[in-house]
Amino acid sequence: MTIRITKKQDALVHFDKSALQQNLEHDRAKARLLDPSDPFLRSVGISDSAGNIKPSRQDKYKQVEEFLRLLAPTLTSAIETGHIKAPTKEKPLSIVDLGCGHAYLTFAAHQYLMSQGMFVKVVGVDVRQESRTRNAAIAKELGISSTIEFRAEEIKSSAIDYVDVAIALHACDTATDDAIAWAAQNGAKVLLVAPCCHHDLQSQIKQSPEPWGLLTKHGLMKERLADLLTDALRAQILKIIGYRTDVIEFVGGEHTPRNIMIRAVKTGTKPDQIDIDTYHQMLAQWKVKPILAELLEDEITTSKQS
Ligand SMILES: C[S@@+](CC[C@H](N)C(=O)[O-])C[C@H]1O[C@@H](n2cnc3c(N)ncnc32)[C@H](O)[C@@H]1O
Repeated sequence: MTIRITKKQDALVHFDKSALQQNLEHDRAKARLLDPSDPFLRSVGISDSAGNIKPSRQDKYKQVEEFLRLLAPTLTSAIETGHIKAPTKEKPLSIVDLGCGHAYLTFAAHQYLMSQGMFVKVVGVDVRQESRTRNAAIAKELGISSTIEFRAEEIKSSAIDYVDVAIALHACDTATDDAIAWAAQNGAKVLLVAPCCHHDLQSQIKQSPEPWGLLTKHGLMKERLADLLTDALRAQILKIIGYRTDVIEFVGGEHTPRNIMIRAVKTGTKPDQIDIDTYHQMLAQWKVKPILAELLEDEITTSKQS
């Protein structure tokens, strides 16, 4: 697009048709996974009665879509490589959404994966009883209560007895750590976690190892650095305890500033000594101990010994 100002100070806008064509092709190539008129999107309040995404829910819709865009191939690949067993009707894939809130992602994962022919049993966990009541009523209305369930529980004390895949979208602050720890301790083979705000390390960082004081003397940058440090340590802990882990951007920053995803697949590979050493050096230099290190202390120690 180019803008030219005329002598009369009018703006003349010219659109380059080839660029428009490219954009349209891009949109077409990235077809939606979730049909906005799907009844579940209306029930959860993302779409209106005419089947259009509500303006106020566009960002959440996009977050959920992009989350699914990563979840689906991660599951397929984990099944193909034998890291998770191929699900059957009798033994569906157990997916647990931790800190599910209004369950946009929980329902979306259920509906999308079922539509792709994957047998799943999905459980949404949230500490709030009113979330459970609302979500369970929607499941009933949609006639899917046999394959989707909601529980009002603290993540860390959830009594769910079996999990293949743990997902969490913006579980507040250290609830993300509870989700990772719970998933690892209960044998989840795949974790997809998009963290929310972090306060744990930010409050622990009193003095930075120099020359990092250059960044931490500015509140805004200290906050961002603490966020990165938190997620880097989360990823490293998962690696140490036997998960192949990567950190990716799951959705554009215009849809949420919380757009990092930690993706981990349990391979059981023992960490290299350097992975353990750099992790401990990082804690020592910054004089911090993240909550996840406390929660998974035994697992971290055991992986080192074996
Ligand atoms: C920011 S909301 C995100 C909800 C949903 N995942 C989404 O993306 O729309 C975080 C949710 O986590 C829940 N939560 C926070 N701490 C929790 C905990 N320790 N155990 C269970 N749920 C928790 C809150 O009640 C809230 O519904």
